[in-house]
Amino acid sequence: MNLRAVGLDSRAPQPDAGLVVADNVVIRFGDVDAAGPISFSVMSGEFISLLGPSGCGKSSLLRAIAGLIPIASGRLSIAGQPPGEAAAMRVGLMFQKPLLLPWRTTLQNIVLPAEIATGSSGAIDRSERSQALELVRMVGLSEFADAYPHQLSGGMQQRAALARTLMSDPDILLLDEPFGALDEFTREALNEKLLSIWKSGATRLKAVIMVTHSIPEAVAMSDRILVLSSRPARLLEVVPVRLSHPRDPANADFARILGVTRAAARPS
Ligand SMILES: Nc1ncnc2c1ncn2[C@@H]1O[C@H](COP(=O)(O)OP(=O)(O)OP(=O)(O)O)[C@@H](O)[C@H]1O
Ligand SMILES: [Mg+2]
Repeated sequence: MNLRAVGLDSRAPQPDAGLVVADNVVIRFGDVDAAGPISFSVMSGEFISLLGPSGCGKSSLLRAIAGLIPIASGRLSIAGQPPGEAAAMRVGLMFQKPLLLPWRTTLQNIVLPAEIATGSSGAIDRSERSQALELVRMVGLSEFADAYPHQLSGGMQQRAALARTLMSDPDILLLDEPFGALDEFTREALNEKLLSIWKSGATRLKAVIMVTHSIPEAVAMSDRILVLSSRPARLLEVVPVRLSHPRDPANADFARILGVTRAAARPS
C-alpha cells in the first residue's frame, strides 16, 4: 500500500479546482430522478459530509463518484478525469452494510481486493499480507484477524469493512453511513478511529466524503458539510466547520454550527 511515512502530509489543501468536481450532475434511474442537478467540489485535504434525508440520493452520488453508475447529465470529474478513468487516483467505497464473506476470516476478507486485483485466489504476496495486518492493527482488530464474521460484533464487522476498503490504498475514501447501524458509543469510538487514521498521514488518503444522517456526526467529523435537499438531492447549503480536533460538543462554537446545520437541513 506504500504506507506513507508518518509526518509526510499529503493532505494539505491544494489551490486547485478540486479533487472531485460535480458540475450540474443529474442521476436518474429510469423515470426516477435520484439526485441533482447538483454542483460541488471537494478539495485535496478535505473531509466532507453529505447530509440529507433518507432516499434523497446520497448513496447514488457516492456510487457515481466511484464510477459504479453513470450520470444522466452534467459533468463529474476525479482529478480532472471521468470517474473510473482517473488512473492516478484510486477511489475506495465503503458501503452501508459490511458485506463480509462469511466463510473467510477477517484477514482473508481484508485481502480480498488484492486477490481480485491479481486474479490469484488465496495467494497474496508477503507485502500485501503485512499491509493487511497493519490495517487490522489500525482498526483495532489484531486479536480477531483469524475470526470469522459471525464471531465479530456489528462494530467489528464495520471496522473490518473499513480495513478492506483501505486495503486498495485509496486517494479518495467514500463512506456510506459507515457506522450508521451501530449504537452511539460504538459509533463515536469508530469515528474517532477513522479520524485518527485520516489525520495520521499513514495512508495516501487525500479526501474523505462521508454520507451521514446525523447532524452531530457531520459537525464532529467534517471540514465542510454539504446539506442536501430531499430527492432528487440538490445542494441546500454548505456549512464550513472551522474547529480543531478533537471537537467538543459542549463547546459554544460546536453548538452554534450544529444550530446552523440543523436550520439548513430542516424540511421546508
Ligand atoms: N439501482 C437503482 N435502481 C433504481 N432506483 C434506484 C437505484 N438506486 C437508488 N434508486 C432510487 O434512487 C433514489 C435515491 O436512492 P439512494 O439510495 O441514493 O438514497 P439515499 O439518500 O442513499 O437513501 P438512504 O439514506 O435511505 O440510504 C431512491 O428513490 C431510490 O429508490
Ligand atoms: Mg444510502
